[in-house]
Amino acid sequence: MATTLANPGLISLAAGFTDQSSLPVQETREILQELLRSPKTGPAALQYGTTIGDQVLRELTASRLKQLDEVRGGSAILSPERMVITNGSQQMLYMVTEALCDPGDVVLVEDPSYFVYLGILQSHGVHARGVSMEHDGLDLAHLEQVLETLKREGTLPRLKLLYMVSYYQNPTGVTTSFAKKGGVLNLLRKFERVAGHPLYLLEDAAYRELRFQGEAVKSAVAADPLGERVIYTGTYSKPFATGARVGFGLLPKSVLTPVVRIKGNHDFGSSNLLQQLLARALACGLYESHLAILRNRYAQKAKVMRKHLQQHFPPAVVWREPHGGLYFWPRLPRWLKSGPHSKLFQEALKKNVLYVPGQLCYAEDPSRPRPNNEMRLSFGAASERNICTGIERLGKALHRLL
Ligand SMILES: Cc1ncc(COP(=O)(O)O)c(C=O)c1O
Repeated sequence: MATTLANPGLISLAAGFTDQSSLPVQETREILQELLRSPKTGPAALQYGTTIGDQVLRELTASRLKQLDEVRGGSAILSPERMVITNGSQQMLYMVTEALCDPGDVVLVEDPSYFVYLGILQSHGVHARGVSMEHDGLDLAHLEQVLETLKREGTLPRLKLLYMVSYYQNPTGVTTSFAKKGGVLNLLRKFERVAGHPLYLLEDAAYRELRFQGEAVKSAVAADPLGERVIYTGTYSKPFATGARVGFGLLPKSVLTPVVRIKGNHDFGSSNLLQQLLARALACGLYESHLAILRNRYAQKAKVMRKHLQQHFPPAVVWREPHGGLYFWPRLPRWLKSGPHSKLFQEALKKNVLYVPGQLCYAEDPSRPRPNNEMRLSFGAASERNICTGIERLGKALHRLL
């Protein structure tokens, strides 16, 4: 992100920024003006709020999740009482890890995974173990094998949770099917007795609302009828404004209290002003209408990237088309390295294009070498023109090295 901001000539297909031109500037200005004009809501929005978050925003967020999971009527699980508003979902990922993990513990991650979360694990001294991915989410047979290995090694009691980016995954674009979410929960349950404590599924749904193709998939919360094992994180960053950094988590009761205490120590509550902004955007329908615009925008940008990948990348490079989110994940022949020290990366930099080397998205897992032949390409922030030019330049570099 810093490299991109510091070098305006660089075409960055790396940073996870969202589309600049469709950020809702005008609408936000109107909401804030209305909010601050009133002697009732203005001062309240500029005052401290509660640690757990604004009641109205929690209610609106819970009912939005009910709508997405097609839950009708009341729900004790998809409820504002279990909802915490955070500074981006990133803060929730951090707090959940802090609440549940000690140094030396183990967390299972998708292989590859969201590299910033891998950083959180590393900074807590937690070991990440990778579980292979298939086109519809985790490879359940491999998950079982990893759990058996931990059991055999006697390290299962150190396992605390499994982290999954379930929609249009960062970095691969893969969406986890509902059946697989159920399968993961069953396997975690099966090994709980030996672990000696609950094994949670941390579902990161950051890109859920950016669907532009395919069927909607229910969350793992819907596969956890007692609401005891799924920790769900979501965000208003990607679908509304990344700069507002309003995120949230829906937590089982056992995790809620420690997380709220940690949040109390961090900041005793996210920005009240920005929470009021989101609550109003949701209540007046602006959020929904903006989302429709965004989905079309990203569908178009994904189409442009796909077309240029087909046109400029050698046939030996393969990828799947994402149904939402912001990323393509091309895989090169195994011998062609894409890491930060590779010829390809240096050549791309010389041509003023930046991508995320796939290697960075793999945990340091002693049970396998880190693959080094993939790249994450984002169509989020780059203009259509820059997507075309960037892919063309990368294509030239690939053709030369192949
Ligand atoms: C998978 C994933 N989770 C969480 C986040 C954090 O987003 P935010 O803190 O803005 O909600 C990101 C941001 O890129 C992400 O890609």
